[in-house]
Amino acid sequence: MGEKIVIGGPASQELAASMAKRMNARLVSPDVTEFADGETRIKFNEKVDGAKAILVQSTHPPTDKHYMQLFQMAHYLSQEGARVHAVIPYLGYARQDKQFTAGEVVSLGVVSHMLRSVGVARVTTVDIHSAEGMSLFSVPIYSVSAIPNLVQYVKKNLNLTNTVVVAPDFGSSKRTEAFATLYGAKNIQLSKQRDRTTGEVRVAEEELDVEGCDVIIVDDMISTGGTVRAATEKLKKARARKVIAACVHALLVGGAQEKLAAAGVDEIIGTNTVPSRVSKVDATEPLASYLRTLSE
Ligand code: R5P
Repeated sequence: MGEKIVIGGPASQELAASMAKRMNARLVSPDVTEFADGETRIKFNEKVDGAKAILVQSTHPPTDKHYMQLFQMAHYLSQEGARVHAVIPYLGYARQDKQFTAGEVVSLGVVSHMLRSVGVARVTTVDIHSAEGMSLFSVPIYSVSAIPNLVQYVKKNLNLTNTVVVAPDFGSSKRTEAFATLYGAKNIQLSKQRDRTTGEVRVAEEELDVEGCDVIIVDDMISTGGTVRAATEKLKKARARKVIAACVHALLVGGAQEKLAAAGVDEIIGTNTVPSRVSKVDATEPLASYLRTLSE
């Protein structure tokens, strides 16, 4: 196999540039334009045949568009004889990894089929929503974690006292435990229920021993902010002092940032898997470290 190249998809140009630097690889940036009807046109201006192509494209909203761009780029690269390793920092549809109600499409399974059929040979992502989702893939997939990088950021930049790390639901308990261990704080887990039809989130009433404490709510992602808002309301009621929301993927859709500020969240910390105003942590370090361990 030939030269290692990093392709920066339109959703992840900065992250790809940083990956290329860390991996000492050539950065390739195809031209991406839109036809009048909104369809995407992608044009590569460099030869890619025989290359080991690390194709970096996150699939945050607009998720379907970002996936379509990813499929087009992967298809071109594999047709031209490159070996395609898709690095998808935020793996859209990862939450739809099983049928929650009858008749529902398991969308992550569709994503897996599509990636394989356009010639993707390997997938790497960051903090996939749930490890079980990886069993839907028929090509090798690995999820690195940016939790240590979030811990480092909080330690370096925030001056918290009496810190308690909070899992807003059962699903985030493992991630939160890892965060609390690295941070050196105790952790607690809340009990959340989501209405599968309305999406409304409720956190169970329980005694929370957080009076006067600074709390860090840790989750894989913040989308509408419903989960973190419900947790914050309970923590504030229990007289927590500062509330910090730390997540890997800060999608922040539908005015989530404003909603969270109104609920009493002092700061939101996210990574650059989803470029936003709160992308304070660089996820390229765990990605590049993992990629360097691969021989192909
Ligand atoms: C759910 O299990 C996830 O880990 C997140 O807690 C959830 O997806 C966040 O979504 P939202 O911000 O819309 O509540």
